[in-house]
Amino acid sequence: MQGIGRDFMEGTKYRNMGKSGYRLGMPPPSMEMEWDRTRTPIRLPAPKGIDLGTLSVREAIERRRSVRDYSRVPLSLEELSYLLWCTQGVQRTSAGGHTMRTVPSAGARHAFETLLCANNVAGLRPGLYRFLALDHALLDENLEPDIAARLVEACLGQDFVRSCGAAFIWIADAYRMSYRYGERGYRYLHLDAGHVCQNLYLAAEAIGCGVCAIAAFEDDDVNRVLGLDGESRFAVYLGTVGKKV
Ligand SMILES: Cc1cc2nc3c(=O)[nH]c(=O)nc-3n(C[C@H](O)[C@H](O)[C@H](O)COP(=O)(O)O)c2cc1C
Repeated sequence: MQGIGRDFMEGTKYRNMGKSGYRLGMPPPSMEMEWDRTRTPIRLPAPKGIDLGTLSVREAIERRRSVRDYSRVPLSLEELSYLLWCTQGVQRTSAGGHTMRTVPSAGARHAFETLLCANNVAGLRPGLYRFLALDHALLDENLEPDIAARLVEACLGQDFVRSCGAAFIWIADAYRMSYRYGERGYRYLHLDAGHVCQNLYLAAEAIGCGVCAIAAFEDDDVNRVLGLDGESRFAVYLGTVGKKV
């Protein structure tokens, strides 16, 4: 068997991890990407105070299906807050530069940032936002009116990226992972993403919403729309969410 996939599997074997920053004794990278501290983020309802749905895990697992048609009823800010909490919520930070979150992550590296294309969320102007996991808040990144349309195009015309309440876009800050695991870290990024999206599926099910995972997209185009360089930071996976019809 030959090809890039095979080369990737070979090059990312444990023994081929290479000398990572961690192994070289370098200081760890920041737990989150920088943001302009002079700006005032939009505070989200505190997860502890949110009382939504009591569906059992078993029921959520058994009912879950990928949903691509959404109701026009907007997501509430509480629902959005809950879903962000369930997918990337920070429960603890440690002095060593780790975060413990509601999802597992290889070595607790938690190398994702969540961007949101908010289309139909009560109280939010449509546009692109960044979730600040450490503050449980949102920062608007791009409120140009064509941002959702550009994202649809980059996702090969999958229209529900625009008709959903919000599209979650998980972007990797590659060094936050490769600092610890070198080349193998690239595998772990993609494994981590699966956990995050599965939590979105199940948490959404519990509150009467539906999700569709999206990995069919033109990487360079999505990265361009999001303003990412595509090498140190790049989109890994998306999940659309909205109220069920
Ligand atoms: C890694 C991954 C990528 C996917 N990408 C897309 C996608 O780009 N577009 C889409 O409509 N569905 C996508 N899906 C959803 C699958 O089509 C769906 O999970 C599958 O058909 C099984 O249906 P179910 O989720 O309802 O069980 C993806 C699912 C996974 C796990």
